[in-house]
Amino acid sequence: MSSVLTVRGGVPLAGRVAVRGAKNLVPKAMVAALLGSEPSILRNVPEIKDVEVVTSLLQIHGVTVVKDPATGDLTLDPKGAKTAPSTLIDAHAGDSRIPILFCGPLIHAIGEAFIPDLGGCKIGDRPIDYHLAVLRQFGAVVEKRPGGIHISAPKGLQGAKISLPYPSVGATEQVLLTATRAEGITELAGAATEPEIVDLIAVLQKMGAIISVQTDRTIRIEGVKELSGYTHRALADRNEAASWASAALVTRGDIYVEGATQRDMMTFLNTFRKVGGGMDIDDDGIRFYHPGGKLRPLVLETDVHPGFMTDWQQPLVVALTQAEGVSIVHETVYENRFGFTDALIRMGANIQVHRECLGSIPCRFGQRNFLHSAVISGPSQLVGQDIDVPDLRGGFSHLIAALAATGTSRVTGIDVINRGYERFTDKLAGLGADFDLSTSTTGRKLNS
Ligand code: EPU
Repeated sequence: MSSVLTVRGGVPLAGRVAVRGAKNLVPKAMVAALLGSEPSILRNVPEIKDVEVVTSLLQIHGVTVVKDPATGDLTLDPKGAKTAPSTLIDAHAGDSRIPILFCGPLIHAIGEAFIPDLGGCKIGDRPIDYHLAVLRQFGAVVEKRPGGIHISAPKGLQGAKISLPYPSVGATEQVLLTATRAEGITELAGAATEPEIVDLIAVLQKMGAIISVQTDRTIRIEGVKELSGYTHRALADRNEAASWASAALVTRGDIYVEGATQRDMMTFLNTFRKVGGGMDIDDDGIRFYHPGGKLRPLVLETDVHPGFMTDWQQPLVVALTQAEGVSIVHETVYENRFGFTDALIRMGANIQVHRECLGSIPCRFGQRNFLHSAVISGPSQLVGQDIDVPDLRGGFSHLIAALAATGTSRVTGIDVINRGYERFTDKLAGLGADFDLSTSTTGRKLNS
């Protein structure tokens, strides 16, 4: 059974939503708890699918995970860590991409790791070659087995001098989670430095790790023998915050996003202002609103931090369908993150996608036949359609397009959105959206 939303569009979203801990930090901080010799406490944990998946994976590896019913805080006790039965691990194949980050911590805790085949949004090939190369540089032995990969380190994990071919978020986290308890010093060049990575470093430092970040994308980690637990409040989800900001623009609404943090969203905020969005920033959050009048078109390229995040791209493209003139968006992080525009075109948007790099950031996709640049001409009146949600951010984008459209849209596959947007249907209802939620028996497996 899967959920279906019937959306009657045209109502400006107005009101208040709260964002909690970042989807792209919380599951990783949970994995970090495996490295400690004491329990850890994680605060500001959202109720999303990735947290459920990681909770279950930790539990089958003997980690006790207790949720405070009043606050949702998690206490994670790794003392009973043990090898998990592969049938239980297999049950998580395709659920998420986080399991790959269990490699280092599991080897440190129990000497080996079996990682199920990964899930994650279908926005490109999403290989794990950097992860495996990095693990091998620490001295790990990686073996492909049915249903996943087995990783061990017969001679222990040793610090290494590593250079990433691209500042991958996940591979940087792989290095951090492996190096903190490896023997000796690790130097990582070409690291990603997203705020979620800095927050993971803060978690590890609380546990006793010694990690320094240099301005040239180099991270230096001095391995220590033992780590303790941590108490940490996860940074807020800047991707969810930016999604609600785009929702306010697209629907000509006015949304106060409690928890939105200016410091982590500066690049987004500059862009939001350039397109003509209104904002008021205070200590508790940010009010995003459509000030009336016309939105302005933009030329935009996604990039690693501190550039414009790829996860902000999809909701913003929906807003650009409402801008007066031609916008150009060059996606340089994922090769296939414009598939969601097909549904927008069916709804009346004027968007062409191109193989060429329409921008100046050196990009890995230009000569490789990927439709990774978009030209958006607006404004277009969006009209309700039947839509099947393709991935997390694309799905949210379809939803806000449906909310802005005239007429009715039937949106299927919305369970995917639960992966990263906590209680999003409650939030939509609180913002005055006009929709019904029902279930369908012809649903698909939730695996993106
Ligand atoms: N890449 C490789 N090989 C690897 C790893 C990455 O070629 O072994 C490539 C990817 O294919 C991609 C690029 O490197 O083209 C960047 O990928 P990265 O490793 O940075 O992404 P990730 O760690 O898999 C995280 C977030 C994504 C977010 C990206 C970029 C999580 C769980 N996911 O993915 O979030 O888009 O970083 O910031 O943290 C989302 O929230 O919707 C989402 C997809």
